[in-house]
Amino acid sequence: MQEPLEGVQIRPMTLQDCAALAALAAQVPGNVDPREELARPLTRAWVACEAGASRLLGYALCWWIVDELQLLALATWPEARRRGVGRRLLAEVVSAARAAGAARVTLEVARGNVAALGLYESAGFRCFHVRRSYYRSSGEDALELELLLSATPAP
Ligand SMILES: CC(C)(COP(=O)(O)OP(=O)(O)OC[C@H]1O[C@@H](n2cnc3c(N)ncnc32)[C@H](O)[C@@H]1OP(=O)(O)O)[C@@H](O)C(=O)NCCC(=O)NCCS
Repeated sequence: MQEPLEGVQIRPMTLQDCAALAALAAQVPGNVDPREELARPLTRAWVACEAGASRLLGYALCWWIVDELQLLALATWPEARRRGVGRRLLAEVVSAARAAGAARVTLEVARGNVAALGLYESAGFRCFHVRRSYYRSSGEDALELELLLSATPAP
């Protein structure tokens, strides 16, 4: 890991952020379009930015479904990776879920996505279901992960 980026701020995503995020969103598995998603009432989304700079470092986008927050997309720009930004965004998602009274946070990740799995597992997420050969292009399995909030003490 490189030095963590100092002064990273997390704030709710706005429509104005979407143009700047389009190229990054295109690299994220699942084809989630932040602009389309922000129009849905069930969407909750955040961006990470450097304090005092307009440059966005990454984003997280979720759906609020009944009593859980489903993480649909989480990504940081390649040049900002391994500097703690993904972890900060994930912490915001978990803290928002907790504050809203969610029972759990769930997500889906390709078995071979080492970086994402490392992040989620180190944050306490556990696999509760495997979708065999789920991804058509690669034939890879999808792992469904969850973080049970009642079983995880708040930091
Ligand atoms: C997954 C992703 C969001 C991680 O973002 P990041 O800003 O690099 O994450 P962080 O710097 O906060 O890293 C947190 C932890 O994740 C794990 N991790 C991150 N990158 C890793 C890598 N390349 N290899 C192994 N573990 C990695 C490590 O446990 C790391 O902690 P450490 O640096 O203290 O060892 C980023 O790699 C990304 O945008 N990937 C492309 C999009 C994607 O696949 N999203 C997930 C879809 S489910």
